Amino acid sequence: MRIDVVTLFPGMFGSVLGSSILERAAKPVANPADPGDVRAPVASYHLHDPRAFTTDKHGKVDQSPYGGGPGMVLQCQPVFDCVAAAEAQQPELKATRIVLTPKGVPLTQPLAEELAVQPRLLLIAGHYEGFDQRLLDELEPMEVSIGDYVLTGGELPAMVLIDSVVRLLPGVLGKAGSHHADSFSPGSANDAGQRLLDHPHYTRPPAWRGRGVPPVLMSGDHAKIAAWRKQQALELTQARRPDLLSPAKKAPASLDQASPADSAGPLAVVALRDAMPADADAIDALLRAAFPSDAEAKLVRALRDAGDLPIELVAELDGRVVGHLGFSPVTIDPQADGGFSNPRFRALALAPLAVHPEAQRRGIGKALTRLGLRSCGDANLAAVFVLGDPAYYGPLGFEPADPHGFTNPFHQGDAFRVRFLNDTEPTRGTIGYAPAFAALED
Ligand code: ADE
Repeated sequence: MRIDVVTLFPGMFGSVLGSSILERAAKPVANPADPGDVRAPVASYHLHDPRAFTTDKHGKVDQSPYGGGPGMVLQCQPVFDCVAAAEAQQPELKATRIVLTPKGVPLTQPLAEELAVQPRLLLIAGHYEGFDQRLLDELEPMEVSIGDYVLTGGELPAMVLIDSVVRLLPGVLGKAGSHHADSFSPGSANDAGQRLLDHPHYTRPPAWRGRGVPPVLMSGDHAKIAAWRKQQALELTQARRPDLLSPAKKAPASLDQASPADSAGPLAVVALRDAMPADADAIDALLRAAFPSDAEAKLVRALRDAGDLPIELVAELDGRVVGHLGFSPVTIDPQADGGFSNPRFRALALAPLAVHPEAQRRGIGKALTRLGLRSCGDANLAAVFVLGDPAYYGPLGFEPADPHGFTNPFHQGDAFRVRFLNDTEPTRGTIGYAPAFAALED
């Protein structure tokens, strides 16, 4: 991920971006087993100072507000030109623009998760009384706040946002997926899908200043330990953050608030999460509404009924399920003509993507696909196949599968596409879908 920051105080970022995990994420990754195998850094940081772009002969970037009032307002020209210059570096990588401001939508864990699947973020840190409104109208950034308090500028919020996102990038935290059980993270969710605070943790020694460790943690009984942790997380959440357990809880903010111009209706508040058993009826209703052809709905239903969607996500808008995406297993039969099969090459197929007609044109389908691909990468899958519109799936990194030596018993041509997820050597062969897929084609 490329991260650009537009800031009048680039010097504030050095120690944060140059320390610990954020520093490590920006370093090339060497493979200890193979000194020749060095991978590109997971993240790169680029700082840009609007002062370098001002046309004011005194170097000013701010002026007092029209209409009077305290403080200074950042002017459009230097910030706009600075953003344009930043984006002109690697223009093929489209940036998600974000302005840090106390007036923004709250930064939450689900929002950090969505940002973590974007290829590039461009953060704009304000100061003084903020920006001239015309700059915001022109750039149409997402506006994000890190909490209900006011800081002297957007630099600390920008660093907080960077930290919350970069730690989610694949390979940044030591153990793959180790962030999944954190407070507010998908793995912390209870059966109702509510994300909870993390349970307490203990380590050596077994007694310290007269304080022991809960005996269950020393019992070696993993089922009991899991149940104890679940209970502790629930009690802690009830005591400290009952709002997280309230059924009327609003879905957290998402990227879709970023582009009101794109959206069909009022400001959208979308949450993306793993599908749960309790979603069954809502998913069924969505499938009926989303697919004009009954065949697609039938296929997704059959895959769900057969338990053939090991990765399955939903999008929620105002508490209503408006998007669904599942990934089903595929087998790869090596080609008779000298093809080879690699047992480490595990792949899934993208089932038809459902977005409710009233929630379309908000980027929900693409956000679901990106998040799903990330989950597949975390699960160490080698590739995902899709039968779909090349114009839609091309920008998501899918390329024609036939030239890579894959064939599809039901379909050939550009719509049969593959997205590779890691460096596993490709296997060639004929794709075999989960039985429900195959049944549909008969
Ligand atoms: N700038 C000043 N205060 C802020 C906050 N709470 N969040 C984001 N940006 C800010």
